[in-house]
Amino acid sequence: MKFEVRELAAGETHELRRSVSADGRADLPTMHYELDDASDSWHLGAVDPSGRVVGISSFYREACPARPEVPESFQLQFMAVDPSVQREGIGSSILSEGLRRLQSMGAKLLWASARDNAVPFYERFGFEVVPDSASLPASTGRPHHLILLEIQQQERREVGGGDRAPRACRHWCCRPRDGRIAGDRRSPSRWCRRRSRR
Ligand SMILES: CC(C)(COP(=O)(O)OP(=O)(O)OC[C@H]1O[C@@H](n2cnc3c(N)ncnc32)[C@H](O)[C@@H]1OP(=O)(O)O)[C@@H](O)C(=O)NCCC(=O)NCCS
Repeated sequence: MKFEVRELAAGETHELRRSVSADGRADLPTMHYELDDASDSWHLGAVDPSGRVVGISSFYREACPARPEVPESFQLQFMAVDPSVQREGIGSSILSEGLRRLQSMGAKLLWASARDNAVPFYERFGFEVVPDSASLPASTGRPHHLILLEIQQQERREVGGGDRAPRACRHWCCRPRDGRIAGDRRSPSRWCRRRSRR
């Protein structure tokens, strides 16, 4: 399906927060989260051609409980895609764009408390599970783990080795901005090629 990844107002995320993130619970008075109002919070989502929001994510400037010493840490919350269009690349496109923005802001760390069943999705981006970080929030009864991605380290790993030739690249920076599924992930983006020549 066609979709566009763009910044959302917090209120535009509420429908999917309720139906997917909160498993459709009807007893929650609001889907508003206190940090939504902070000046350095932002929300990214995917919108189909009719204007329907089909994917959401929210980014909050928050220290990671497992790495409180790292400055410029951001927490990812409410990552969700409409169940009717999951596994079509929408979540990946949103997270790729979020990571691009975090990198351009100079962010050092992105972390989340992730549902265990979604961890494989995050691992594709290089997220690592924090050992001994299991939790079982009473609100959902779903097992979670802390996951984190050191944003600059991810970049160094990609560039490392002193290899000046363009290399096969599955890095998130090579994924398309406009929601299209990457046609040929074997080719590095121009940006990656430039970095690998440094
Ligand atoms: C997890 C979620 C955000 C992923 O978004 P998506 O648009 O469905 O994911 P994509 O199509 O971009 O997936 C890319 C790859 O990630 C992996 N992946 C995605 N969802 C997965 C899942 N639930 N289990 C295992 N692997 C998954 C797969 O490898 C997938 O590639 P494939 O479909 O070719 O096998 C979405 O499925 C969702 O909203 N799930 C329910 C809510 C949830 O768990 N949110 C995360 C809270 S921490």
